Amino acid sequence: MVAIACFSPEVLHQACALLTAGGVVAIPTETVYGLAADATNDKAVAKIYAVKQRPEFNPLIIHCHSAQQAKQYVEFDSRAEKLADIFWPGPITFVLKRRSDSPLSLLASSGLDTLAIRIPAHPVAQALIKAYSKPLAAPSANLSQTISPTSAIDVHASLGNRVSLIIDGGQTRVGVESTIIDLTEENPKILRPGGIAVEQIQSIIGSVEVEKGSRIKAPGMMVRHYAPSVPMRLNVATPENGELFLGFGHMESEYNLSLSGNLEEAAANLFRLMRLMDQPGIKGIAVAPIPQHGLGLAINDRLTRAATREG
Ligand code: TXA
Ligand code: MG
Repeated sequence: MVAIACFSPEVLHQACALLTAGGVVAIPTETVYGLAADATNDKAVAKIYAVKQRPEFNPLIIHCHSAQQAKQYVEFDSRAEKLADIFWPGPITFVLKRRSDSPLSLLASSGLDTLAIRIPAHPVAQALIKAYSKPLAAPSANLSQTISPTSAIDVHASLGNRVSLIIDGGQTRVGVESTIIDLTEENPKILRPGGIAVEQIQSIIGSVEVEKGSRIKAPGMMVRHYAPSVPMRLNVATPENGELFLGFGHMESEYNLSLSGNLEEAAANLFRLMRLMDQPGIKGIAVAPIPQHGLGLAINDRLTRAATREG
């Protein structure tokens, strides 16, 4: 049986016991809910893939409670220092060189000599990582190729009894996954747009390249991340008969990402509304144009993935 539990000292204790025993726990972060396991335990990390039914071993993001803790596992440079000062804890993940003495599971990083690492801002994630004292590997807490969960109920709907503990931390604030920036080369590169806008990053470290198009660059970053059961059309001004319309900005539509045209609000609503609108029997989902700046990059990236059907 799965328990959905609000955060308390007892639940914290229970979560730590599960992690110590090599189990997985679904936890809230400020972006999406994560399926967490001890990042130093290969078997526990393997359990993440099994629970998610991931067909391949994508490298996972390692979650620490502080930059100081992160520095035990990866080699920081001046760009990482600057970005960490401004954005950590928060929705940005750095890909950095793995320290040769890092005790983290090689499975968690698919055997790469780099690691993706971030400090989540959610108080529950913070408290758990501090209490456990070891970093946690955590992809989104949903079955592979389904939509990322932004509430405990979403996690339960996707994973059901495949997890024994879901910690309820409410609806997530950011709503899309963290921005991933590769800092292993001379030119920093955004591998995945996310909760911190590219413009914000550029204001700190200057120009950064953004990985364009739908080619798979971050290893394991599948084009088709989530596809609803019905067809999706993007950049639509007027929906066709039988389509549900997902609006943005002031427009007539039952579903709207943000009536005021606020991209942060739209990101926070994106996964919840896509889930709500994925109704069998409808002709499809049409989505209004979303501006391609700020968090619009992350929103358009997730929409494009959702609309992509591969053979
Ligand atoms: O917001 C988030 O980042 C959420 C929450 C739960 O923290 N986590 C998340 O984790 O999205 P995950 O494991 O699903 O994201 C892994 C992504 C993959 O696209 C993977 O390819 C990339 O991070 N990644 C991991 N390690 C990498 C590495 N060493 N080099 C390049 N990309 C890497
Ligand atoms: Mg995911």
